[in-house]
Amino acid sequence: MSNGSVFRDIAGKYDRLNSILSLGQDQNWRREVVSRLPNGRILDLGAGTGAANAIFGDRDVVALDPSPEMLALNDAASKVVGVGENLPFEDGDFDAVFSAYVFRNLDSVDDTMSEVARVLRPGGMAGIVDLGRPESTAVARIHRAGTSVVLPLVGITIGARTEYQYLHRSLDKNPPPEVLLANTPLDLVETWRMGPLGFVWAAVMRKPE
Ligand SMILES: C[S@@+](CC[C@H](N)C(=O)[O-])C[C@H]1O[C@@H](n2cnc3c(N)ncnc32)[C@H](O)[C@@H]1O
Repeated sequence: MSNGSVFRDIAGKYDRLNSILSLGQDQNWRREVVSRLPNGRILDLGAGTGAANAIFGDRDVVALDPSPEMLALNDAASKVVGVGENLPFEDGDFDAVFSAYVFRNLDSVDDTMSEVARVLRPGGMAGIVDLGRPESTAVARIHRAGTSVVLPLVGITIGARTEYQYLHRSLDKNPPPEVLLANTPLDLVETWRMGPLGFVWAAVMRKPE
């Protein structure tokens, strides 16, 4: 199953499920990142159904996602079908780039970060939040055992078992943010952890002036 078909198939259920799985915290975790980003024109990379639109304030939002099914549910004024690895925008087009719960689904984090750096203006900022594993190896092992049981069970209850097995596997795809983002063209300003056992990570970066 490709990540494209996962999001096409669960588009209608996505927001409710995300909220259940995060115990209602997914919006707070997005807000922690958005509050650190500048005003102006912002790219929501992997915007999905537009869950973050409510917290962008009066920023000028461009929602980008490869899934037309997810974007159809997104009420942003400007919507673009596309992928992070090949952004259809001019250099320096944005004051900020935001991305929530997308990075473990990317084909290439390095290509996406090169593109993010290109479309940001000098001094512009990028903020990312995603799910992964807790920092400590021992705690990560416990977390992995837990999600191997809980996520397929949640999937069965909503008729999307395969999709939730994909989610379980995707949590192991990326290393911690300090490693994942070490070689980007942006300066890493801050990383932090949130959620039960710290399995949610966030990072804020700035493009050099
Ligand atoms: C878990 S959803 C998150 C949606 C939204 N950001 C949110 O906070 O609810 C992941 C999204 O990433 C999108 N996606 C998958 N691969 C992508 C890529 N290569 N570039 C950009 N977005 C991608 C999916 O279509 C999906 O809408």
